Amino acid sequence: MPLPPAFLDELRARTPLSALIGRRVKLTKAGRNWKGCCPFHGEKSPSFHVYDDHFHCFGCGAHGDAISFVMQSEGAGFPEAVERLAGEAGLEVPKPSPRAAEAERQRLDLHGVLDLAQASFVRRLHEPEGAAALDYLQRRGLSPELIARFGLGWSGDGRGALPAELARAGVERIRMGEAGLLREAEDGTSRELYWNRVTFPIRDRRGRLVSFGGRTLGDAKPKYINGPESPVFSKKRNLYALDLARAGLRTGQPLVVAEGYMDVIALHGAGFVGAVAPLGTALTEEQLEELWRLSPDPVLCFDGDAAGARAAARAAELCLSLLTPERTLRLAALPGGEDPDTLIRKRGPAAFQTVLDGARPLSEALFDLVREQGSGDTPEQRAALRARLIAAAGRIADRSLATEYRGALLDRFYASRKRPGKAAPPKARPARTPSTLDATQAERGRCLVAILLLHPDLLRDVEEAFAALELSPAMSRLRDAILHACERNVLDSAALLSHLNASGAMEEAAQALASVPYRLPACAHADAMPAEAEAGWWHIFGLMHRSQLDEEVAAASRAFKDRPDDEAAQRRLIALCNAREALLVPNEGTEAEP
Ligand code: UTP
Ligand code: MN
Repeated sequence: MPLPPAFLDELRARTPLSALIGRRVKLTKAGRNWKGCCPFHGEKSPSFHVYDDHFHCFGCGAHGDAISFVMQSEGAGFPEAVERLAGEAGLEVPKPSPRAAEAERQRLDLHGVLDLAQASFVRRLHEPEGAAALDYLQRRGLSPELIARFGLGWSGDGRGALPAELARAGVERIRMGEAGLLREAEDGTSRELYWNRVTFPIRDRRGRLVSFGGRTLGDAKPKYINGPESPVFSKKRNLYALDLARAGLRTGQPLVVAEGYMDVIALHGAGFVGAVAPLGTALTEEQLEELWRLSPDPVLCFDGDAAGARAAARAAELCLSLLTPERTLRLAALPGGEDPDTLIRKRGPAAFQTVLDGARPLSEALFDLVREQGSGDTPEQRAALRARLIAAAGRIADRSLATEYRGALLDRFYASRKRPGKAAPPKARPARTPSTLDATQAERGRCLVAILLLHPDLLRDVEEAFAALELSPAMSRLRDAILHACERNVLDSAALLSHLNASGAMEEAAQALASVPYRLPACAHADAMPAEAEAGWWHIFGLMHRSQLDEEVAAASRAFKDRPDDEAAQRRLIALCNAREALLVPNEGTEAEP
């Protein structure tokens, strides 16, 4: 129910943030503001800052206002948090508008309609008409207790018995449609959606009935159907058995994500009472958020075949940008050809426990997932893999976590090159070194390397573009040495040069900084301001790869939209836009041109 923005503003204004947070976190004054140890990740030195109207953790990126603090620290929902803060601030939460009240009433109605249908389905399963279905479930190994725990039912044969029954209970036909129990036939009439199917009630996290799944007893297609989107049901937000898993987690079981209804039921039956499943679609961002409200590291279970690996890669990809130190995943692979249901039936709960024990943290599994998208031993393939690994780490929005992932992925990358009996070659190979790199492009590339030698902190922002650049063989060697030196943390220029000296790349560095064959542009001088260096870098990059500059601008503007308060994102967008603007005017004599 949307609350008036003015009320929320008033509520925030009346809630002194440092007092609210100070109850949970020991805060000390830092200038006008406060700081302390972040309550959202384990840390010993304070990087959690509290301002007048918001908090921000420079360690884990946690960020928000009074309402989101209560939500995050207490696991409260938005309405609960508002209610609590309003009580403390002496404000009354405004009554819902007539429209909101009507929507709420309708929602309650629909739960009621669904509850009536559920009672009917369960009753039918145990009447003579449900005998075949009950037999089917028992043959699949479900005990009467498990059938009851999951509320399984029988839809009936679809000849109108359910709508008639609901009508007798006073439910208007239009409500049955809204609840998702009917489907439109071609002749404009509506029929039951579920017929000749076992029914699986789908409940939301609080246990309210929101929809049904239905399975045929035989091989009819489709095997499963799920209810349509409705005012109470969203396929991408709900997870099957989330309400049961919430309770199950309290027994210490892990949160496990399986693929199907029957998998979840078999898992619960075998004691894995933290099992849930998406509803016939790939896992969504909204579902990940739901999972993370319950566990910092849910286990995703995938089939041990190619499709399972693809699904795992898709989930990992989706989750990267959302990762924080408290929000990650573990990935468990099933033996090929098995799902949790078949595995448990054939080899017992212990076999699934072994699968769980083998779950790998995302940080470990990611390397293999990225490598499975294509790998090989040629320098070109290795360089492409390296760029993909860096790009994967780069998608993690949490800065410090991204750095850790990058380090871990690159460690694995270098380790993966070592062959038995041979030490790793000391120098990495160039990304791309076509024999016909023209002189102008080569000189532009040299400028870009020179700028980074003098302003290595720029590397953070340009790394992906830099890694993929076409460079001369010498500059390419130097690039790899720079990236290697800056792998774990970005150095200042002097420290970088001394690293390069130690790793035998000084000759190339001297070549990059020389005033031959052309003098370097002003942005590649040691005394250039950081902003000038950054704008110059993108400008020259744009001269080399116009279309990629456009892509970078698009990516930066997305990043800025996501994090409007992030100064670095803002700076980057400005630098990129300036560079692109400069390129729109044909301006051949620019200083960036050799
Ligand atoms: P599977 O085809 O893997 O089926 O679909 P399953 O879970 O092993 O089912 P059983 O063991 O044959 O009964 C996995 C999930 O994909 C969705 C359902 O949510 C199912 O549980 N699905 C599958 C559909 O939505 N429609 C279909 O036709 C098939
Ligand atoms: Mn199955």
